[in-house]
Amino acid sequence: MTDRLLSRRGVLAGAAASVAAAGVARVAEVTSRGDVAAADTATTVIPFRGERQAGIATPQQQHAQVAAYDVVDASLLATTLDAWTEAAERMTAGLPAQHDSGEAAGLAASRLTVTVGFARRSLRLPAFRNDALERRWSGGDVVVQACADDPQVAHHAVRTLTRLGRGLRLRWVQRGFLPTTQGTPRNLFGFSDGTANLRGTDTKLLDEHVWTDDGPPWLRGGSYLVVRRIRMHVEKWDASSLYEQQNAIGRSKSTGARLAHAPHSHAALARPEANGGVRLLRRGYSFDDGVVDGRLDVGLLFLAYMRDVERFVRIQRALAAHDEMNEYVTHVGGAVFACPRGLRPGESWADFV
Ligand code: HEM
Repeated sequence: MTDRLLSRRGVLAGAAASVAAAGVARVAEVTSRGDVAAADTATTVIPFRGERQAGIATPQQQHAQVAAYDVVDASLLATTLDAWTEAAERMTAGLPAQHDSGEAAGLAASRLTVTVGFARRSLRLPAFRNDALERRWSGGDVVVQACADDPQVAHHAVRTLTRLGRGLRLRWVQRGFLPTTQGTPRNLFGFSDGTANLRGTDTKLLDEHVWTDDGPPWLRGGSYLVVRRIRMHVEKWDASSLYEQQNAIGRSKSTGARLAHAPHSHAALARPEANGGVRLLRRGYSFDDGVVDGRLDVGLLFLAYMRDVERFVRIQRALAAHDEMNEYVTHVGGAVFACPRGLRPGESWADFV
C-alpha cells in the first residue's frame, strides 16, 4: 500500500493523489456548530491552508485528540515540521499520509482539522487557587490538536504526526468527545455548554478577542491556546440537588436560560461584563478516561483560543476565587501555546521556526 495507491476516501480513489483533488468534496464554510448538515460531514473537507489555521474558528467536530511533545533534538524540528505539513495537508483532504499506517483507509475526511502551536518562553500561566496540575497532563513544547467527526480519523492524524515527529518525545495525549446533537451540546454535568460562546461567524468579535496581532510575524493572525484538563467530580455532582447545580452553574439545566440571582455562579463570574469585556473562544470536549482511585476519571478537556493569555488569567482568577462550581471540579492539567497564522500556498510550518 504505497501512499500513491491508497486513497482514503472512496470519492478520491483513482484521482491524482493531489490535494487539489479535495476540491471535489464539499468545502465547509466557517459557520457555527450544527450548521453543517450531518449527512454532509463525512465527505466534507475543511481547507488546510488559508488566512487562519483550521480547527480554531471551525465549527466543532465530534471528536478531538490533542497531543503535546517535548523537543529533544531541536536540529530536527524543521524536518519534522515539513513532514507534518505535508501529512496534515493530505490527511485533512482525506488522503493517506507518507507510508500510511492504514488504519484510516476507507474513511472519509470527516472534517479533519490539524492545528499546531508552540510553547514560548514568555508564555507562562500563574498558579491559580485550587490548581492540582499533574506533570503527566501538563506542559509541552509543541502541540497538535486533531479534530474530526470520526474518532479513528483523529487518532490516525495524531498517530501519524507522532510517527513522523523526529527529535520529539510524546508528553501527553488527551481525547475528547461531544454528543451528536443539533443544538448546543450538554457537558457531563448535564448543562448546555457553549450558549454564550463566540461563533466562528462572528468575524468582528473574533478579530477583537481571538486573533492576535502581536509577537513574531508568523504569530500575527494566529491565536493563543490554553488547555486545561478539568476533572469533574460527577459522583458528588449527582448527589447534589437541581437547586444546588443550577446555582453553581448560573443557568437553568433544562433550558440553558441565565438565572438572575446567582452572583457566585460559574456563568455569572465568567461573563464579559464581570471581566472588563474580555471573551474567549471555547472549544472544549468532554473526556471519559476510566477510573482513578475508585472514581470516574471524567471531565472537560478545556480548550480556549484567545488574543492574549491575560484574558484567560483574568477570568480564571475570578473563577478560582469565587466560583461555586469549584466544589465539583479540579484542574489537573494545563498548558499554553502560541498557534501560528494559517499557511499560504507553498508555505510549511517549518518556515515558522
Ligand atoms: C469543568 C469545567 C467547566 C464547566 C463544566 C463549564 C461549564 C460552563 C457552562 C455550563 C456555561 C454556561 C453556558 C455557556 O455560556 O457556555 C459556561 C460558560 C462559560 N464558561 Fe465555563 N465551564 C468550565 C470551565 C471554564 C473555565 C476554566 C473557563 C475559563 C477560565 C470558563 C469560561 C467560561 C466562559 C467565558 C463562559 C461564558 C460566560 C458568559 O459569557 O455568559 N469555563 N461554562
